[in-house]
Amino acid sequence: METKPKPRILSGMRPTGALHLGHLTGALDNWVRLQDSYDCFYSVVDYHALTTEYADPSSIRANVIEVTLDWLAAGIDPAKSAVFIQSLVPEHAELHLLLSMTTPVSWLERVPTYKDVQANLANRDLATYGFLGYPLLQTADIIIYKANAVPVGEDQAPHIEISREIVRRFNNFYGPVFPEPQTLLTPVPRTPGTDGRKMSKSYGNSILLKDTEADIRSKLKTMVTDPARQRRTDKGDPAKCPVFDLHKAFSTQETRDWATAGCTTASIGCIECKAKLADHVVARVEPMRQKREELAARPDTVMDILKEGSARARKVAQATMAEVHQAMKIAY
Ligand code: TRP
Ligand code: SF4
Repeated sequence: METKPKPRILSGMRPTGALHLGHLTGALDNWVRLQDSYDCFYSVVDYHALTTEYADPSSIRANVIEVTLDWLAAGIDPAKSAVFIQSLVPEHAELHLLLSMTTPVSWLERVPTYKDVQANLANRDLATYGFLGYPLLQTADIIIYKANAVPVGEDQAPHIEISREIVRRFNNFYGPVFPEPQTLLTPVPRTPGTDGRKMSKSYGNSILLKDTEADIRSKLKTMVTDPARQRRTDKGDPAKCPVFDLHKAFSTQETRDWATAGCTTASIGCIECKAKLADHVVARVEPMRQKREELAARPDTVMDILKEGSARARKVAQATMAEVHQAMKIAY
């Protein structure tokens, strides 16, 4: 029986180091689910890492492995999805170059992340050609697989938007080679770190997927709560408490009801409430940590998975580039 091919998605993460709970709730859980209904390509984008880490690339390789370990531990299945390293498919770089011929500089300059990231990383010189081209490289990542959709959070929506504009311009000049990729917006639940701000590596407030039970318990013990609850006898409001945001993401309805009732009547203390949250987070993370540890003991196997995934991705990328060469009249 003929089965309709599944629609294709591509997504990527920069190799910045071990992943945290925010990556799980904001991307990975969704990526894992999508594996059943889509033909998935998931890339560790090391070229993109170089746009900001070019002065010291010494940790990129190890971080590629770290990110991949977390993906596999979270349930990304290389039998279903192509899990690959961007630079092992150098056609991404070639397509990026060819797209650069048609892309007005002003389109890239007005992408909001361009100025934002430059301001946030003011200690680095990001007035580079490569950094300006970040969204163009991202466009190449997506369209070289003719991906129909890109699962991303809200922050990446402008990048997918510009990729559609770049596709339209390419197709206008050279004929209809690329589909316009759709944004598959991942609803990102608020996942605060232990200081109440957004969980982020640079804030040092993260709970990592590779944290042990003891790590998780001690980090959560000192997490900030509703500031109105100074004393055990003060009533609190879960809506104002970052701990409760994590309850929403990791606890059961039963526990959330217990926390809400206990908090608003001051019949439980924050220590108790956080210990209960820790139970749920540990239950979620501990099996992943164990799987990760097993995989980490076999780094060659992990690299083999990445090389296999890259070879699979590269076949698709090369077929697209043959079409691009034809369309652009540089097929020899
Ligand atoms: N820019 C993305 C981020 O920082 C990473 C990325 C690179 C990406 N290429 C991609 C995401 C292609 C989706 C599709 O999160
Ligand atoms: Fe937050 Fe729980 Fe304390 Fe209420 S009891 S303030 S929800 S940690």
